[in-house]
Amino acid sequence: MARLDALARHSDEPVQLTRLYLSAAHKAAAEELAGWMREAGLTVSIDALGTVVGRYESAMPGTPALLLGSHIDTVRDAGRYDGTLGVIAGLVAVEELSKRGETLPFAIEVVAFGDEEGVRFPTTLTASRALAGNFDPMVLEACDADGVSLRNALIAFGCEPTAIARVAKSREAVLAYVEVHIEQGPVLESEGLPVGVVTAINGVRRLAVVVTGEAGHAGTVPMRLRRDALTATAEMALAVERVANSLPDVVATVGRMEVFPCAVNVIPGSVQFTIDVRSPEDSQRDAATEEISRAIRKIAANRRVEVSISTTHEAPATACSTVMINALSRAINHLGFTTRTLPSGAGHDAMAIATLCPIGMLFVRCAGGISHNPRESISLQDADICVRILLDFLRNFKPI
Ligand code: HGY
Ligand code: MN
Ligand code: MN
Repeated sequence: MARLDALARHSDEPVQLTRLYLSAAHKAAAEELAGWMREAGLTVSIDALGTVVGRYESAMPGTPALLLGSHIDTVRDAGRYDGTLGVIAGLVAVEELSKRGETLPFAIEVVAFGDEEGVRFPTTLTASRALAGNFDPMVLEACDADGVSLRNALIAFGCEPTAIARVAKSREAVLAYVEVHIEQGPVLESEGLPVGVVTAINGVRRLAVVVTGEAGHAGTVPMRLRRDALTATAEMALAVERVANSLPDVVATVGRMEVFPCAVNVIPGSVQFTIDVRSPEDSQRDAATEEISRAIRKIAANRRVEVSISTTHEAPATACSTVMINALSRAINHLGFTTRTLPSGAGHDAMAIATLCPIGMLFVRCAGGISHNPRESISLQDADICVRILLDFLRNFKPI
């Protein structure tokens, strides 16, 4: 818990916790984590996309590794457990083995990805996709709000973009991936359970929408002659909500909106906003996206504004491996807890790793299901339980 508090002190903002991909705060957190890993006896490297990798060898050096980890970047004004819990839980479990001089028939690599939230650049899962061998070089040209490209941010972080090809793990080098993560929802707490096992991760699509009307003088343009980009966008945002409410298991969110020129006495000429659409079934998500796009275009036509809609990120619904679900369930039962399986509404790096090897996720109860919020919290007891379960899982894991 002290380490999670220590990582939370690495922020790009003076008061709230915001740690964006490749920022100075990400660098400081990665370096502090690397120090803890070295002290625990792991061999540490930081790969060409900024992922911290701590390797704990097996009795036979060079054996395939089980990957444990999650992400250490955060959303804006974040909680301190989303992502970091999975990295620290993995580190503490391996530290326990190392203290006892206990080796397993496989290596363990604790990984800390830096771009799971996708807040700084209009892309996400960059580092975990690269580790799985699915890096898209096009994302190197993606720019943040200050116009800094991902390529230049990597170089400033101390990474070498030409070494990205070496980040990918071969299928033979990896056994499986396990991510411990806060549930970020209310189910476990409502049932009085400390942990749960994830069955599948909802698919997601992120859209960038640009609405173009006409800037004008707020005092002189009659209402009937306006092409107000903001009021059009407001109607579009309500249409997003209406469509999501009408479809089972679909959620959709307008999370970011920028108004231009953003002056009290100017009719907004243009607005840029984002839409995040998710569901357990990809076909539902496609139908929802279709219906949302249709509604947006209809509103644009009625209000005589232009609109462009582009997809900035997409990840299909991803099932966890039955073998991993059963192995995690056995460990939970060994510690005397009942197994609760549940889907994940939130996205995770595990989605990106699923193309490389079997994935499993252990959810940990969080108070009120609150996340993406500084009030996010877990109990010391549940943190202890999840590490004990992880240790039992590791000691009984039979390489697939
Ligand atoms: O958006 C998500 O689901 C995750 O927190 N990045
Ligand atoms: Mn997360
Ligand atoms: Mn998150």
